[in-house]
Amino acid sequence: MKRILVTGGLGYIGSHTVVALQEEGFEVVIIDNLSNSDAAVLDGIESITGVRPQYENLDLRNKQDVGAFFDRNSIDGIIHFAASKAVGESVEDPLLYYENNLHSLIYLLQECKKHGVYNFIFSSSCTVYGEPDSLPITEAAPVKEAVSPYGNTKQISEEILRDTCHSDENLQVISLRYFNPIGAHGSASIGELPKGKPQNLVPFITQTAAGIREELSVFGDDYPTPDGSCVRDYIHVVDLAEAHVVSLKRLISGLNEVNFEIFNLGTGRGSSVLEVVRAFETVSGEKLKYKIVDRRPGDVIAVYADTQKANDVLGWKTQKTMEEALDSAWSWEKKVRGVQE
Ligand code: NAD
Ligand code: WQD
Repeated sequence: MKRILVTGGLGYIGSHTVVALQEEGFEVVIIDNLSNSDAAVLDGIESITGVRPQYENLDLRNKQDVGAFFDRNSIDGIIHFAASKAVGESVEDPLLYYENNLHSLIYLLQECKKHGVYNFIFSSSCTVYGEPDSLPITEAAPVKEAVSPYGNTKQISEEILRDTCHSDENLQVISLRYFNPIGAHGSASIGELPKGKPQNLVPFITQTAAGIREELSVFGDDYPTPDGSCVRDYIHVVDLAEAHVVSLKRLISGLNEVNFEIFNLGTGRGSSVLEVVRAFETVSGEKLKYKIVDRRPGDVIAVYADTQKANDVLGWKTQKTMEEALDSAWSWEKKVRGVQE
């Protein structure tokens, strides 16, 4: 049985990927410092799969601890989710972001080299494309100047990975550029649980419907889009998790063509903010309180993925609809908040 290290495995996307890995017969070891998650996520994972993954509360910024972990553990592959991800916070405290997101990656790669761990999957983001020149966005689209320190850490991380792959042909890396992950596991045992006020659209919607937030602010209705609100590619987190398993299998089987590959992970379909609001109202049966406010600085107008490469090369494509994702996000929110049906 292959043993996979999942950093940030108690976080939103990580926890869903741990479930998908366990369901495919992988043994999982999680590293997470709980900076944006809770150890109770282990209970949620165990309730779904029947297996409690090994977990180490370890901060990847601590080089010595990371080294000691690899001395103690035999690992066949790494999926590296752990990072700080709040765009606004990264503008206020860029050094936290550069330290956390880059040191963690460098220390992991150093241990990969030392211990011969060659299969590595990285969590990248569509944010690297900035405002694209054309839609849908292919992997060949240029990386634009980052609008936030967070986005810059993803660009620099990809450069670090590319250079490291160039220097060591044994190292095999897949960088996955996620579009907008939403939704939760169908069991409602794990899901997205932002600490404090949510920055992302869907958790803000579900918290508003649950009565935790007064109303949703829709950031702008005067964009050059069909209804004036921004367009994004919302991908169900369970589909996203599955793409990690497929990517890992590709590396383990040696099917990758070069030792640094990049894939877009999205649905290929763009939805506006107002479309998401309406879809949420339909699936939940709840009337959502919202108002149109000014544009949010730094928002791009429209992004959605060209999924051809992931479809053809990985043999993966999304299975679930945005409605299913919103329904699962709402079920999760209701469970967490104890909202009665
Ligand atoms: P998340 O915050 O829910 O999960 C990240 C996990 O990493 C958390 O559990 C956190 O406690 C842990 N962590 C952070 N720093 C750590 C450290 N130094 N040592 C150990 N653990 C640490 O975030 P997520 O939404 O699951 O995102 C996972 C990855 O995907 C991140 O790299 C993020 O940048 C990337 N990504 C996310 C999105 C999104 O919209 N959610 C989109 C594109 C890319
Ligand atoms: C989606 C749309 C908002 C909240 C961010 C990061 C990106 C990536 C994914 C990690 C936008 C609108 C939102 C609200 C709103 N993360 N909105 N009211 O901005 O596409 O991307 O998450 O890599 O790097 O920047 O996602 O969920 O914040 O916003 O109107 O209260 O919803 O303007 O159009 P975004 P989001």
